[in-house]
Amino acid sequence: MIYSKICGTGSYLPTDVMTNHDLEKLVDTSHDWIYTRTGIEQRHIAQSHESTCDLAEEASRAALNAAGIDSSDIDLIVIATTTADQVFPSTACILQERLGIKDSPAFDVQAVCAGFLYALDIADKFIRTESATKALVIGAETFSRIIDWTDRTTCVLFGDGAGAVVLEAAAVPGIHSTHLRANGAYKDLLSVPVGISRNFEQIINGSAYTQMQGGEVFKIAVKCMEQIAIEALEANDADVEQVDWFIPHQANSRIIASTARRLGVSMDKVVVTINQHGNTSAASIPLAMDTAVRDGRIKAGDNLLIEGFGGGFTWGSAYLTY
Ligand code: COA
Repeated sequence: MIYSKICGTGSYLPTDVMTNHDLEKLVDTSHDWIYTRTGIEQRHIAQSHESTCDLAEEASRAALNAAGIDSSDIDLIVIATTTADQVFPSTACILQERLGIKDSPAFDVQAVCAGFLYALDIADKFIRTESATKALVIGAETFSRIIDWTDRTTCVLFGDGAGAVVLEAAAVPGIHSTHLRANGAYKDLLSVPVGISRNFEQIINGSAYTQMQGGEVFKIAVKCMEQIAIEALEANDADVEQVDWFIPHQANSRIIASTARRLGVSMDKVVVTINQHGNTSAASIPLAMDTAVRDGRIKAGDNLLIEGFGGGFTWGSAYLTY
């Protein structure tokens, strides 16, 4: 039996930081409101010349370096992103050329904030079926580009960044299981209702923005996050005591705390980066994972429960041994 295993992580955050106090100058809000409602203190924002692929490249090089793997050994690239550099080619193809990787499959996955789980699931299946041996799996976003910076109900929540993992074939897991869900009935609760074949004029006039019914999203997110985490534990006959680190999507500290409480996971086992990063969509889970690997919390052999939730709605989880 062949499994996939994470052998290196990396991440990258743009250098520009926007604090809640900076936002007070843009919209009618306050640090206290944002921090109390969301746990966010600051977020990183890409400069106008920085693209999603730029962030993905930095994160990928850091992950390859941590894994001690040359980019030429990579035989699959999957990027989860909502904010691709171009309509086509995919951000993954642009990255492939930059990293000097030849002929590997390379493609983007779009599942918004659950995108990293979708990308990880796909790469894991490539490796288990011997279609790839070493994969770069990335979550990268310049979400600030699809934010209306005059809308206080959304602009305080999001940030930019990228996280990457190198997955390689292994005789033991690694990834024990992945679990994906989607429900398009919720498509209007969180969306950018603009694209190439619909409302294209809003892209031309620069008003393609995220719209959200925050309260509804909050309630459904908590339920879905609990259900999909339980599914991952049950699939592996694992209980919460066996989880060393719980890494949820970083959307709101109250969603994170509520999910952890429902699962019975103590908060000192939860990786929380939302205070520093805001919601970086598909990048949030690999960014949080890399943070906890580099500061020494996550060690080889630790059991990780990761989960994400995003527009669609899409949601997913994975149970893995680091
Ligand atoms: N600053 C100050 N006041 C704000 C504000 C801001 N940035 N945004 C909204 N408000 C106001 C509202 O206008 C409202 O005022 P009113 O009572 O006079 O009408 C009040 O604050 C409460 O708004 P409400 O939307 O009920 O707040 P909330 O407690 O539900 O928190 C969110 C709002 C967005 C923080 C919360 O709903 C949330 O986090 N939802 C999930 C969003 C999410 O995670 N999305 C991504 C999923 S991947």
